[in-house]
Amino acid sequence: MDVEVLINKENRLDENYIPDDLVITDNNENNFHNFIDPNHKPMISKKVYPYFLKMKEDALKEGHNLILDSGYRSYQYQKNIWDDYIEKYGLEKTKELVAPPGASEHQSGLAFDVAFMKENKFVEHVTDDLEETKWMIKNAHKYGFILRYPKGKENITRYGYEPWHYRFVGIKLAKELYSKDITLEEYYLMVKV
Ligand code: DAL
Ligand code: ZN
Repeated sequence: MDVEVLINKENRLDENYIPDDLVITDNNENNFHNFIDPNHKPMISKKVYPYFLKMKEDALKEGHNLILDSGYRSYQYQKNIWDDYIEKYGLEKTKELVAPPGASEHQSGLAFDVAFMKENKFVEHVTDDLEETKWMIKNAHKYGFILRYPKGKENITRYGYEPWHYRFVGIKLAKELYSKDITLEEYYLMVKV
């Protein structure tokens, strides 16, 4: 899969699409989505992992411990989350928070949700006031990652602000999107015209 691919509500992945280069990143020490599948281990595309590790290494030098929380999710796994949210929050709220099955970047193996270890505690609730969040917002593009659902762009991405969701697009494109302050949707609109 091309790392610049646009995946959203209008551009979906096939139900049967599974990346062929997934690597397991840890043994689920952090119980990611344990409530849905206790055997699920965090995974990401092999082409992305070295960039994540380099970013993690550099963040650690500044005292920030990044954890790859939710990486690859299968179509069925995304459907389980989707169904679970609908039951808990209803359809309208769910549409803001979760991609429908097939529409999630997580299925591509190119995206991940970041979490942090802070003072020996696992911080999964990622908020703007954390030093770690600020570091990611300022630096992720240098490693090829974009903050995929930024604040103020909700009408374009059609999701709420997610300070935890990062998408690998390669260093060149990540730097371009960062400097122009545009989303992947805006980029594709611009390149098409
Ligand atoms: N939370 C993002 C939009 C997803 O479910 O892929
Ligand atoms: Zn995500």
